[in-house]
Amino acid sequence: MRIILALSLMLFCFSCKKKSITPTGVVSKKAMVVSAREEASKIGLEILKKGGNAFDAMVATELALAVAYPFAGNLGGGGFMVYRKSDGSVGALDYREKAPLAAHRDMYLDSLGDVIPGKSIHGGTAIGVPGAISGVFETHRAFGSLPISDILDPIILLADEGVVVTKKQALRLEKYREIILRETGEQTHFYNQCIEGDTLRYPALAETLKVISKEGAKGFYDGVIADKLVSFIQNRNGIITKEDLLNYKAAWRQPVVFKYKDLNVISMSPPSSGGVTLYQIFKMMEPYDIADYGHNSPEYVQLFTEAARRAYADRNYFLGDPDFVDIPLDVLLSQSYVKDRMQDFNFDKATKSEDISHGEIQIIESEETTHYSIVDSEGNAVSVTTTLNGAYGSKIYCDELGFFLNNEMDDFSAKPGTPNMFGLTGAEANSIAPEKRMLSSMTPTIVEKDNKLYMVVGSPGGSTIITAVAQTILNTYEFDKSMQEAVDAPRFHHQWLPDHIVFETMGFSDELKEALKNLGYNINLDPTPILGKVDAIKILPDGRLEGGADKRGDDTAVGF
Ligand code: DON
Repeated sequence: MRIILALSLMLFCFSCKKKSITPTGVVSKKAMVVSAREEASKIGLEILKKGGNAFDAMVATELALAVAYPFAGNLGGGGFMVYRKSDGSVGALDYREKAPLAAHRDMYLDSLGDVIPGKSIHGGTAIGVPGAISGVFETHRAFGSLPISDILDPIILLADEGVVVTKKQALRLEKYREIILRETGEQTHFYNQCIEGDTLRYPALAETLKVISKEGAKGFYDGVIADKLVSFIQNRNGIITKEDLLNYKAAWRQPVVFKYKDLNVISMSPPSSGGVTLYQIFKMMEPYDIADYGHNSPEYVQLFTEAARRAYADRNYFLGDPDFVDIPLDVLLSQSYVKDRMQDFNFDKATKSEDISHGEIQIIESEETTHYSIVDSEGNAVSVTTTLNGAYGSKIYCDELGFFLNNEMDDFSAKPGTPNMFGLTGAEANSIAPEKRMLSSMTPTIVEKDNKLYMVVGSPGGSTIITAVAQTILNTYEFDKSMQEAVDAPRFHHQWLPDHIVFETMGFSDELKEALKNLGYNINLDPTPILGKVDAIKILPDGRLEGGADKRGDDTAVGF
């Protein structure tokens, strides 16, 4: 009897523990926006307060980031949105950039067939056809409720009045100033050095936004803005034409949806690799009692690493734009295939990446994309990741129109087997073709628990996005962390090749690294700045919302 009582007490305490995770982030009752800049989060929230829904707030936050966070927020780039409406229906919008019509498979190779260094990263040749404006207008057309001018007015005001430079922003501008001047010319808006507390005004961008507010997406892809943009890009050896802009259309996609234990995960499908790779990592880990290992314990790091190693190997080989290549999704997303991939794993020693495939590449971590998460008072949720690719994209700033242009063409595989700037080697599936979308790692994700909205999450970070998102979900679900703790917790990364684990500088002990080394893992000891910058929202058991705004940046959660 006593034993039964003790057991019941233990069970009771366990379920109490599961239920009583104290929130440590910003908590609000009804609605929330979490993004990389306070100004953008506040403008998104203002739209929600005015009676707009999460989709109106998506338009507002996306464009406010283009003003307040030109490092990654954009008019000249593209992104992905995953949504879940309050009625439980889900969907995804792909407004990823496309290769121009004049692009071709070997456009970054010299006469010997070698990759010309930098050609897909710098200058007009790196620019893909921008998708952002098509993305926001398509979102608004499908689900918006407020007039577009009501949404854009506060953003135009922000661009006119200016944005106060934060300490982190001043450091970034300083770091990239020289290369922006080199790529754009010394007449640029960004000529003057900025220090913390300065106000940066964007009058040209305000004018561009006024045209778009009046004329819609057509005001960007056709007419005066399009003409100016095309001649600006072509003057810098770019190959984008008016026809490319006229042809661009955001595309609705079926998101990748799968169960992990009692969660239901909804994430981005190709041309992003996010959802498929997340599926594989989670399904490979699902049979294990992860919570028992402990957060960031050697067993957990080992299991996660082995799953990521196998999932990234598949990512790089099989994935590309589904409009151009046949992706064997039925196999990649099948339980038996994933189970099979883990057959050779055991806790006694590391698998070697060379035994899974081969290649020699290096990884570069960064935070140059941006993610935002929104929940409105009706319970609609949107999860959006948007990017220019590199920091300030191609570093080419169109002063006349007020925005940076992307260097997304580098996300293609310029030559099979040669790594891109994130150290990712692609294969034929991600080769360049006219009007094709380049493969992405962006992983905007929404999670349900008990058929109810549970979390909205995503991150920048190039190839490290997927592992950052996966670990944030596991931190919350398996390791009972609050949303803010889950976002702030130290992260690690493995992407098949190079065959090493990267750890954030703080938060991992020498003993842990030693234990993993003894099992045959290679540990990258180079100082790693940060892995991802997650902005997330969790729905608490009582229905309130907790924001997780990554302490690694200026990220801010606001709600009401
Ligand atoms: O789509 C992708 O996967 C990349 N262009 C994302 C770039 C990124 O996250 C840069 N910042 N770290």
